[in-house]
Amino acid sequence: MPVNNEQLVGEIKRLKQEREALILSHYYQLSEVQDIADFIGDSLELSRRAASTPAKVLVFCGVHFMAETAAILSPGKIVLIPDLEAGCPLAAMVTAPDVQEMKKRLPGAAVICYVNTTAAVKAESDVVCTSANAAQVVKSLPPGQKVLFVPDKNLGYHAARQNPDREFVFWEGYCHVHDRISAEDIITARQANPAAMVVAHPECRPEVVDLADETASTSGILRYARENPARDFIIVTEQGLLHQLRKENPGKSFNLASPALVCPEMKKITLEKVLRCLVTLGPRVEVPSPVRERAVRAVERMLNIS
Ligand code: 13P
Ligand code: SF4
Repeated sequence: MPVNNEQLVGEIKRLKQEREALILSHYYQLSEVQDIADFIGDSLELSRRAASTPAKVLVFCGVHFMAETAAILSPGKIVLIPDLEAGCPLAAMVTAPDVQEMKKRLPGAAVICYVNTTAAVKAESDVVCTSANAAQVVKSLPPGQKVLFVPDKNLGYHAARQNPDREFVFWEGYCHVHDRISAEDIITARQANPAAMVVAHPECRPEVVDLADETASTSGILRYARENPARDFIIVTEQGLLHQLRKENPGKSFNLASPALVCPEMKKITLEKVLRCLVTLGPRVEVPSPVRERAVRAVERMLNIS
């Protein structure tokens, strides 16, 4: 068994070739995990890559719903997650029976579900969205359409503000990492660094979004930092994104709005676990066919919109 990171990385690379596997990583992963990935992306980019790659084995470094989305899109592939316990608490806030019940109460409403949901919830939904395309997905529905948005109320509110001609019902879910940031946190961070641009993720509360210079998904934050001439940035999303921000912009400075912006679930994936899953080809993430067949319609509808 390798004893240091260098040996671990060497062994992962060797086995990855032997297994003909592709390693996908979300931006919130540990820096050393991002560095061994073949592809790093936001939730939308990861879904697209999972759908298009010819690789037969996918190692998904992220939380469970992300690997499940890959399995929904790629029924013939082996989808591995290095730690089956890495789950998104936001995704656990709404269940398929919850959505069924709401549909009875809101006849005619279109159900938009954030990609941070289980496959069973996706199967009950009309269309999926990510933080990169939520407003666009809403726009694809006819004006006047009633929308049930699950489960992230903050992202739903952000998309609704850009679509005032649709009627919304929001599920009361939230990401505990982003939702714990308050307006006071932003005011304090700005006072400490008045020249900095504040960039927030739409899972933040509306009062935080209102105080930011820009609101964007993780890939949108990267784009903004690349294109904006400012040198200092206050980042209001999970700490893992700092790794790519700093790598891509060596002359610029990036600081978190609060040290509380850490998702423990994302940090469960380690190099040791990536290696173990390449050795054992497990744990696997599988979606039963009847659920997959219904969920894939909602995911593909999103992929055809944006
Ligand atoms: P994005 O990378 O799509 O912005 O996702 C944020 C997130 O919280 C994933 O868990
Ligand atoms: Fe879920 Fe929030 Fe962690 Fe993303 S950052 S996995 S939304 S708890």
